[in-house]
Amino acid sequence: MGESAPPPGLKLMDSEEFREHAHRMVDFVADYYRHIEKFPVRSQVSPGYLNDLIPAFAPQDPESFDDILADVSNIIIPGLTHWQSPSFFSYYPANSSTAGILAEILISGFNTVNFSWIASPAATELEIIVVNWLGKLLELPDSFLSGSSGLSHTATSRLTYCLFYSLGKGGGVIQGSATEGMLVTLCAARSRAISKHTPNGLVEEDVVRRLRAYTSDQTHMCLHKACKIAGIKLVVLPTTKETNYALSPALLRGAIEEGGDDVIPLYLGATLGTTSSAAVDPLLDLGEIAQEYEMWFHVDAAYGGSACICPEYRHFLDGIEKADSLNVGTHKWLLTNLDCSVLWVKNARTLTSTLSVQSEYLRNKVWIQASEAGEVVDFKDWQVSLGKRFRLALKLWLVMRLYGSSKLKNYIIHHTCLARLFERKVTEDKRFEVLVPCRFGLVCFRLKAIEASSVNALNENLLHAVNSNETTFITHTVLSGDFLLRMAVGGTLTEVKHVIKAWETIQKKATQLLSFK
Ligand SMILES: Cc1ncc(COP(=O)(O)O)c(C=O)c1O
Repeated sequence: MGESAPPPGLKLMDSEEFREHAHRMVDFVADYYRHIEKFPVRSQVSPGYLNDLIPAFAPQDPESFDDILADVSNIIIPGLTHWQSPSFFSYYPANSSTAGILAEILISGFNTVNFSWIASPAATELEIIVVNWLGKLLELPDSFLSGSSGLSHTATSRLTYCLFYSLGKGGGVIQGSATEGMLVTLCAARSRAISKHTPNGLVEEDVVRRLRAYTSDQTHMCLHKACKIAGIKLVVLPTTKETNYALSPALLRGAIEEGGDDVIPLYLGATLGTTSSAAVDPLLDLGEIAQEYEMWFHVDAAYGGSACICPEYRHFLDGIEKADSLNVGTHKWLLTNLDCSVLWVKNARTLTSTLSVQSEYLRNKVWIQASEAGEVVDFKDWQVSLGKRFRLALKLWLVMRLYGSSKLKNYIIHHTCLARLFERKVTEDKRFEVLVPCRFGLVCFRLKAIEASSVNALNENLLHAVNSNETTFITHTVLSGDFLLRMAVGGTLTEVKHVIKAWETIQKKATQLLSFK
């Protein structure tokens, strides 16, 4: 064979083969969901289990689809923790939905790489529109939205880009995670601070050394990670039971003042729905302090934000007008399969001036003028990676269209009612206590002990006993030294019967533990 001849039989994409395999794959996934309750919620395998089951080398020759599907059933599924099980009550939920899965098929089918507007105009424009839809559902201040809410969409479409991106106004972008949202906003805040302070005779290294980010000890570790990457020192402030584990504005002010002149307050990370106990920081008071000290104010609503589409929970966002940025993880509790985390910023220019890069191969004289004039958005300048999946644009679009906002609101309320039901059950059993108020879908509780010194060990044992039962999976937290069990309700398939069953399992295990004493 001549060097230039292609190898024979290299047809890797065939519509008919795809159709046949995809239909079978859809059946496979549909059956997985139908039978999901038969699997132990938490994987029961031991570390390294796959090593003995999968060859050490990739196959030289093609294998059959049947064999691969059989392996998925026999060796992959046993190693899954079934996050979509209706009896998964751990961490926080990671919702899957029919709409989300269907959108993923489209996303993967198109497989566009949407770093700039021209790379797929529909991806960029749909992202702007659906992120705005969600922003309006959350009743975010106009300053976070792209475009003028007062004018018709067609009338403003071109104006939207010109006025609200090029002039440094707000807008939203889909990030892969809350962590990425924190990292890009932290970098934007750092650049802003460097520009502000270097003209005053300080060198950049000196400015960075003096910058401080502030947050509470309840903030998700992703802010710690973002600070590590960005090289910013983080001041972590303690919380207490008295504030229900929310950050105290007085404590924040004291910590800033304590830093004195050597410190430049840079960034305040508040949380709406902390990971441990769903605590909500007082946004209004914290926002005022952030403004006073000219800090970037970021609100992490990765979990609690989704609930704020409901009028019953919108008040938790009061004060958001003081924030510079906000993230809501719709991949947690709003049905847009992982990954989909929306970040809104009030001043998009701060992001783009920090993250914008240009390369000759990205330049095209037809659209570069529009890009440089700010008439189009290039989302590569709003995020860490250049390449970007179609992601939430399609997922949230399908979710919102297939379910409508009324169904989405009912969905959230369904879970919060289930959490209240669970909380009621716990308080009715005098052997237990709920130690922090139930918020959103989370209940933190524990088994009481006769001797205070043994209460943590007792609850650790209870957690272990509950999770060794394959039918439910919960996690724990430690607050003020107290070991608490966390029941996080929010699974797409979770119904009353699953919550009751989990509670009965907990009660049964508690009875067994107490009878051993
Ligand atoms: C409050 C909060 N913020 C941030 C995160 C991290 O989210 P991500 O995995 O999207 O970075 C979590 C994860 O559970 C969370 O609960």
